[in-house]
Amino acid sequence: MRKILVTGGSGYIGSHTVVELVNAGFEPIIIDNYSNSSPEVLQNIEKLCHRKITHYKEDCNNEEKLRKIFLDHQISGVIHFAAYKAVGESVENPLKYYENNIGSLISVLKVMAEFSVNSIVFSSSCTVYGQPENLPVSEESEIIKANSPYGYTKQVCEQILIDLIQSNPKFKVVLLRYFNPIGAHPSSLIGELPIGIPNNLVPFITQTGAGWRKELTVFGADYNTIDGTCVRDYIHVVDLANAHVKALEWLQNKDENLGVFNIGTGNGVSVLQAIKAFEKVSNSSLNYVKGKRRAGDVEQIWASNTKAEKELNWKAKYTLEEAMEHAWKWQLSLGRKTEN
Ligand code: UFG
Repeated sequence: MRKILVTGGSGYIGSHTVVELVNAGFEPIIIDNYSNSSPEVLQNIEKLCHRKITHYKEDCNNEEKLRKIFLDHQISGVIHFAAYKAVGESVENPLKYYENNIGSLISVLKVMAEFSVNSIVFSSSCTVYGQPENLPVSEESEIIKANSPYGYTKQVCEQILIDLIQSNPKFKVVLLRYFNPIGAHPSSLIGELPIGIPNNLVPFITQTGAGWRKELTVFGADYNTIDGTCVRDYIHVVDLANAHVKALEWLQNKDENLGVFNIGTGNGVSVLQAIKAFEKVSNSSLNYVKGKRRAGDVEQIWASNTKAEKELNWKAKYTLEEAMEHAWKWQLSLGRKTEN
């Protein structure tokens, strides 16, 4: 397996994965419409890889364009990242999410079938578990109805892929259920570039630390957790990227058709603990206030990652502090604020 089509390959997780794919000897081919990333990312990926990366500025909902890529290259497998990912926006505009996230997967799958490409790694999310009863949450836990259209698109896409396996015995799927990706490449050449006000905790913390934002609001301090704030499993984006390399190796070497894996560290971290880790690595104190709960937040979730460790031969290497340090270095590399 050599040429891997990476949809959304210029995005946050996609860009880090492209670098790890090159490091592992694969040839990634990017298709990205840059709806939530910038073409500059590509230059930095190329700097890190010391080579040119084949890329197409196209939308993967466009089957004609996809077909052309499959004609130009002998694709062995696909990693499908391309999707919208803002939970709040998905509540306001569900059709946008259903159309893009489900539609793009269907387009990719149709074209894969035409070219007899049978291996896909899909970006899923721990959001499929909702608030699990037992923690850490394992892959066998019940999937309960998602509490946002975004989360529901992940559940539907998982089901579409599982249904396809039933109809085509040659078809092989890995579902990676990501926990909370944070951090940036240690080189600070690539990282997360949230457009506008960040929704996620760590970019908000680093932007506040850098003076781009006045203060961070901690969404809820009255939860039934260690310090009253929500608990998540924050995974370094490079560790997450490496899980995709392992997933491709699994597809190549295993006889099974379906692999479902949690990709997290196995550690639950509260919002206040995340803030403390930031304060330590930045040697500063963060301006934050405790505010109201955010609608839709689950109280606490962290991964059982033993299945990924055993079957994918994958392990998270970076600590929370290292991830924060890389997030902070990346933030500082962005310089002064230029937009809201
Ligand atoms: N938080 C704050 N203040 C902020 C931002 C976040 O206190 O300004 C808190 C949240 O309330 C939550 C924690 O920080 O307790 C983490 O929030 P994020 O928004 O960073 O991440 P989420 O866990 O809400 O969401 C992530 C992904 C989604 C995915 C979801 C699944 O961003 O794509 O996990 O649980 F669907």
